[in-house]
Amino acid sequence: MSEPRIKVLADADGIARAAADLIVEAARDAIDARGAFTLGLSGGSTPRTLYRLLAGDEYRNRIDWPHVEIFFGDERCVPPDHSDSNYRMANEELLSKVPLDPAHIHRMRGEIDPQEAAKEYGLMLKRRFGDDGGLDLLLLGMGDDGHTASLFPGTPALSETKHRCVANFVPKFNTWRITLTVPFINRAGEILVLASGASKANVVQQVLEGEDKPGQYPIQLISPASGKLIWLLDLATAGMASDE
Ligand code: 6PG
Repeated sequence: MSEPRIKVLADADGIARAAADLIVEAARDAIDARGAFTLGLSGGSTPRTLYRLLAGDEYRNRIDWPHVEIFFGDERCVPPDHSDSNYRMANEELLSKVPLDPAHIHRMRGEIDPQEAAKEYGLMLKRRFGDDGGLDLLLLGMGDDGHTASLFPGTPALSETKHRCVANFVPKFNTWRITLTVPFINRAGEILVLASGASKANVVQQVLEGEDKPGQYPIQLISPASGKLIWLLDLATAGMASDE
């Protein structure tokens, strides 16, 4: 397994800009090579700045959006207009603002039965990527408990080896989530992990420099076969923020 690359930016805006530049480059390469760019979006709050930047004047025209296909790393089990919906945030900040083909936006249906939603998403992924294929680029975040996507510590989804997408019950929230699984995530050509803020500094250090404890820190399971795993941190998350 190749070591992840770690880039430390000044702040959350720096993380967003670095991610946007990497996405522009990956999109250009994928579309030149295969006529399409398959991009997996992460949820939570961190990527909001990135999505807004990609939809803005500086970046919008640097990506050939009609050839981009959008997927999701995970979704909460809520309707697409719910304030907790990862799709809703991505749609508000990005998807509704760039010229994507609506047929290329693959939403996890959080509003239906979680098992059904996961099954239909997994079948779609199999049809789109075949037995061994994966996303060109996947964005991931990390919670301050070391989870990523909706792969939370101690939950059943961590040990899924067959399906590309599963429903995962998360006791800490007493709710179901829909999430891509480790085997499918690790088929991505490139994975960017965006983590910002001092609250994650200790976990980031444990994950990157501590013992291998994937049950406790699920993001340690993320190791793309392509070897292209890039952590985008800010000074606070890297534990390098000045004391003043
Ligand atoms: C979700 C995300 C999740 C997120 C982390 C970090 O559905 O919440 O996919 O994995 O990336 O929880 O969230 P923040 O960016 O809000 O810190």
